[in-house]
Amino acid sequence: MSNNFSRRGFIKAAGSVAAVSTLPVTLVELAFAKAADNFTFAYISDAHIQHIRGTKFVNNWDRGLIRAVAETNLMTPKPDFVMFGGDLAQLATKPELDHGAGMLAKLNAPVRMVMGEHDYYLDLGEYWSKLFGPQHYSFDHKGVHFVVLNSILTHDDWTFNRWPTPEQRMLEMAGLDNPNGSPFMVGEKQREWLKQDLAKVKMDTPVVVFSHSPIQKIYKGWNFWTDDAEEVQALLKPFDKVNVIYGHVHQIQYNQIGNIAFNSVMATAWPWPYPQSYAQAEQYLPKLTIPMNRADPFFERDATGWQMINVNNGRVDLAYNLYNNRSRTVAFDHKRGHPADTQLQDVALEPNRTHF
Ligand SMILES: [Fe+2]
Ligand SMILES: [Fe+2]
Repeated sequence: MSNNFSRRGFIKAAGSVAAVSTLPVTLVELAFAKAADNFTFAYISDAHIQHIRGTKFVNNWDRGLIRAVAETNLMTPKPDFVMFGGDLAQLATKPELDHGAGMLAKLNAPVRMVMGEHDYYLDLGEYWSKLFGPQHYSFDHKGVHFVVLNSILTHDDWTFNRWPTPEQRMLEMAGLDNPNGSPFMVGEKQREWLKQDLAKVKMDTPVVVFSHSPIQKIYKGWNFWTDDAEEVQALLKPFDKVNVIYGHVHQIQYNQIGNIAFNSVMATAWPWPYPQSYAQAEQYLPKLTIPMNRADPFFERDATGWQMINVNNGRVDLAYNLYNNRSRTVAFDHKRGHPADTQLQDVALEPNRTHF
């Protein structure tokens, strides 16, 4: 009897060893890794689709988005989903939002949307919401809690009482350097929603927040800014691993504030200069950030692009796919506890950096 048992036990053990050894390595890793540890998604942002008249749109901005969509569709492995980071349109008109939505519909992965100020200030997000759904929401994916905020709201007085027409309101908010603009904010109502949403999340669950404006204060004059950034950061403080990914700035930025890692994404439309080029302005470009080279105006797609994002142990690594420019990867450095460029550690080491 006992012989029988041990013989059967041996056969079973030998069988499982054989099964493991014939599995491809990737399958073995999948079987033993926690599902939450590693997956990818793509991030496309700031397409600024601009209507001219009739069926005519600004070709240059169309081409930026078309290229990002085509390249995203070619990625292997396929991204789990695609985020669009806001400013799909230039002046939030129906033709612009429809045209942009049509281009995004060609993506062969699920798409989730973030609201930008260029999508909002004509009809206060009404048509955008009809096309894409709620302006703030959360979802869970493979053990990570994702939160999408509408961070481009501002004071009611500015929004409702100052402008004779919705078109003028849109134009005033669309200018980068316009003193008639108003600082962005998440606002009390949405902060209360965020508080309730996060109450259901365990402290060791990785949290990724998507916003359009930075949830940190970089330069108020250009609205590289969220007025209630500290209040939002305070709600995120109790969690072990928090990552905020934002659009709007059309340039590479990264930072670490306490437990929160910040990463910006590129625009597909055009690059903005860095605020530091505006020497007289008070600005706080994160010291960690090594700026990208200024775009070469002879290449119309230079310093634009999109990102493939790897979620790795609850932190995000951004691979920037830069058109007409050297690609960069900004990954979370677990030893140093902040995001860092994987190659470029010091501005002085960048061989081609003759200007910003
Ligand atoms: Fe933008
Ligand atoms: Fe924006």
